Amino acid sequence: MKDQNKTPLFDALKKYNNDKVISFDVPGHKKNPLGLKEFSDVLGEEILRLDANSMKQLDHLSNPMGVIKEAEGLMAEAYGSDHSFFLVNGTTSGVQAMIMSAVKPGEKIILPRNAHKSAVNALILSAAIPVYIQPEIDEKLGISTGISVRKLEEAIAENPDAKAVFLMNPTYYGAISNLTRIINLSHRNGMAVLVDEAHGAHLSFSEELPKNAMRMGADMAAVSLHKTGGSLTQSSALLLNEGFVDSNTVKTVLNLTQTTSASYLLMGSLDVARKNLVVNGEEIFKRILGWVREARTRLNAIEGVCAFGPETIGNKGVYDFDETKLGINVNQLGHTGFEVYDILRDEYNIQVELSDTYNILAIISVGDTRENIFALVEAIEDIAEKYRRSPLTVKCIPLSNPEIIVSPRSAFYANKKILSLDDAVGQISGESIMAYPPGIPIVTPGEKITQEMVDYIKLLKEEHTTLTGTEDPEVDKIKVLGMN
Ligand SMILES: Cc1ncc(COP(=O)(O)O)c(C=O)c1O
Repeated sequence: MKDQNKTPLFDALKKYNNDKVISFDVPGHKKNPLGLKEFSDVLGEEILRLDANSMKQLDHLSNPMGVIKEAEGLMAEAYGSDHSFFLVNGTTSGVQAMIMSAVKPGEKIILPRNAHKSAVNALILSAAIPVYIQPEIDEKLGISTGISVRKLEEAIAENPDAKAVFLMNPTYYGAISNLTRIINLSHRNGMAVLVDEAHGAHLSFSEELPKNAMRMGADMAAVSLHKTGGSLTQSSALLLNEGFVDSNTVKTVLNLTQTTSASYLLMGSLDVARKNLVVNGEEIFKRILGWVREARTRLNAIEGVCAFGPETIGNKGVYDFDETKLGINVNQLGHTGFEVYDILRDEYNIQVELSDTYNILAIISVGDTRENIFALVEAIEDIAEKYRRSPLTVKCIPLSNPEIIVSPRSAFYANKKILSLDDAVGQISGESIMAYPPGIPIVTPGEKITQEMVDYIKLLKEEHTTLTGTEDPEVDKIKVLGMN
C-alpha cells in the first residue's frame, strides 16, 4: 500500500513556484502578471506561476519517469488497477486510446448504442467495426439503462471474432449493469472489457457506493475525475489492468494525439483530487449520500415528481445504482425535462447537468453542500406549485439497431452530398446526429437513414433539444454518401 497522503506532482509544482525559477522556456507569459494581465487580475497571479511546462523536475507526460510517474502510480492504486495514465484532454482521449489499443482496423467491438460520441468517434479513428447492443429501456421514465447479459451473450454468439466489449459505468442517470457477469462472459470469449467511467470517478471511495470497474476485473477504464472527482475540467485518468492490452501499447497510442505541452494545473489537480478521494472519500460520500437520500424523499413527496434511485434496481438493465445521480422525472408536472431545465436556470439560477424529454439530472459530487442540494429541492417544489399542467404521457421511442452499410471510417472519408432530412431516408449517412446532452447518437456515419430516425430528429427539434454533428447548424440537412 502506497502513502496516499502524498501528492508528488503537486508538491513538485509548489517547489517550482517557490524556487522562483527564471524562465526562458514556454509558456510565454513567463509567470509575469503583465504577460496576461486581464486574466491574472481575475484569477490571481498564482495561476500563472503554476502554469509550467515540462522539465526534469516536473517530469514529462509523454514519457513519465519522475513525479508524474509517481503520481500515476498512486492513481492506479486508488482505483485498484495496475497502471494509470494522466489525461489532459478529458475522458474523450481515454475512450479513444482504449479502443485504439484493444481493437485493430477491421476488427469488431461490441458496444451499447447509447455509447458517448467519444466512442463513436473512436471508431472512425481506429477503423474498428461496431456491433451495437441496444441498451435496456425504462419505459416509465423514458431513459436508457444498462446492457443485459442476455443481449451481450447474443452479440458474442453472433460475433465470436469481436475483440472487445465496451460499456458505460454508470450511465448518466446512475444505472449499473451486471459487471461481474459481463466481464466473466467477455473474458471467457477472449474479449477485453473497456469501460467508459466518465460518470464514475467517485465509485469505490465509500463502502456505500458501488465498486468501480477496475476492481471488478475490467481491462481498461477511462475516468473523468473532473466530473465527479473534484479535479479541474478536462483532467481525467486512463486505467489499465495488464492482460489483454499491454501498457507500452497504451502509452504509444496516447502519444499519437496527446499534447506535448500538458497543463500542470490540470495534472496537479488530478494528484490532489485523488488524495482527497482516498483520504476523505468515505466521510465525504457518507455526508453527501445522507443529503441525497433526504432530498429524494422530499422530492418524491411532491405530487407528479419522481426522484428515482436505488428502488429501480432489479428493473431492466439496472443491477446496481449510483445514488449520487439525482435523476428527477417531471413529465407528470406537464413539462418536459428540457422546459424544467430552462426554468431552473432562468428563474432559479440553478444549472443541472442535463435534461431529456421527461427528466432532468442533477449530479451530486464532492463539492456539493446541503444548502445547494436543498435549493434545488425547493425550486422543484416551487415549480410544481406554480407551473403544474396536465401530465405528459411518456412516449418512449426505442430506436431499432441501425443497419451498418459501411464502416464508420470508410463513411467518414467517402464522397458526400447534402440532402434534406426527408430526402435522406434510405441513404447511407455521412454524418452523425447527436442529442447533446446526453450525447447519444441517433445516426452515425455508414448507417442507413430510416424514416424512424428522421421522425425522432423532428420530435427532438420540436422539444428544442440541442442537436449537433451535422455541418448544417439547424440540422435540417444531412450529408449522405454519394456524388452530386
Ligand atoms: C458517457 C460519457 N463518456 C465520455 C465522455 C467524455 O468525457 P470528457 O468530457 O471528460 O472528455 C462524456 C462527457 O460528457 C460522457 O458523458
